[in-house]
Amino acid sequence: MEYMSAKEAAAKWGISQRRVAVLCSENRVEEATMVGNMWIIPKNAEKPIDARSLRYFDFSDITVKPFLKWAGGKGQLIKEIEPYYPFDKLKGVNKYAEPFVGGGAVLFDILSKYDLDEVYISDINEELINTYCIVRDDVEELIKFLSNYQEEYLPLDIEQRKEYYLKKRDRFNDLKINGNKLTNIEKASLMIFLNKTCFNGLYRVNRKGLFNVPMGNYKNPCICDFDNLKNVSNKLQKVKIVCGDYREAKDFIDENTFVYFDPPYRPLNDTSSFTAYTENLFNDESQIELAKFVSELDEKGAKIVVSNSDPKNTNEDDDFFDEIYSNQIIKRVDATRMINSKASARGKIKELLISNFEIL
Ligand SMILES: C[S@@+](CC[C@H](N)C(=O)[O-])C[C@H]1O[C@@H](n2cnc3c(N)ncnc32)[C@H](O)[C@@H]1O
Repeated sequence: MEYMSAKEAAAKWGISQRRVAVLCSENRVEEATMVGNMWIIPKNAEKPIDARSLRYFDFSDITVKPFLKWAGGKGQLIKEIEPYYPFDKLKGVNKYAEPFVGGGAVLFDILSKYDLDEVYISDINEELINTYCIVRDDVEELIKFLSNYQEEYLPLDIEQRKEYYLKKRDRFNDLKINGNKLTNIEKASLMIFLNKTCFNGLYRVNRKGLFNVPMGNYKNPCICDFDNLKNVSNKLQKVKIVCGDYREAKDFIDENTFVYFDPPYRPLNDTSSFTAYTENLFNDESQIELAKFVSELDEKGAKIVVSNSDPKNTNEDDDFFDEIYSNQIIKRVDATRMINSKASARGKIKELLISNFEIL
């Protein structure tokens, strides 16, 4: 068997060397061996689940909520989406996939209510996915960073807060470009700090990929929601978290899977640019490709729901989604759109819920 040193394992798993030693001494790394005063670890060993603070607690009945504010977050649509959950109603459906996870409003609702066999989430936004992984694997270290920021930031006056915010934003951007596995915990903590303190919780980057959202105006932002982070960490332990395109979920999804797709909105007009979540853009062609993917999964027998904006809000004759999802069932529901640069575009509008099955 080939071995690596604790230092190499620390770099591979993105945690400290001391933490590797603790995990080994707790017998949590199979076949780790002490040689002299050093641990050696099988090269193919997987990072153990970090259960430090989770050990004596029963999390089965705990409600979790998104730990980030996210553009297009579906918190307000849950009441409309929940009736589609097939888990209680269809025998065998015990897997869930959310390939455009964002802030995960539906994911956390499902994780709070059901104990499923397998859950898969993905997103193309690398920083978002790094943050999910760190919340799952290194929540204690993450909380240390966040409670420190909270203690430092909250007592400051507005000018001092701005200066502090910009320093943290620069540091985040530096780590985004020059960071490595060892700085992933700090980068995730900065992602959460910026999300809680920036304007509207927006995630927007410039052409160079640098995060450029200005500071928001919150009196008392909750930067470190200790309890929710720990509970989320626990619920994420068995979730497969993937950074990449939604199509990578294909092999996971089968006839026992409920899939919820919440792709970037098709903009209602030229000025609402909801699609600039990451360096990547999602245009009409991408919506058409997604519709084809949905019909492939439909053939596999998966239970599917897709949401999007209803173009009929601004143009009654726009049948874009009715055409590309002509084989599916389309329901129009009321929603309130939260993030829009135009105040007039906030308020009640219709959203689409597209599914390959009737509410059961
Ligand atoms: C509307 S948001 C999802 C919001 C989420 N439902 C919530 O409650 O917060 C769409 C997400 O899709 C991600 N995305 C964009 N293109 C993608 C792609 N090709 N594959 C996977 N994710 C993608 C964006 O980064 C963004 O987080």
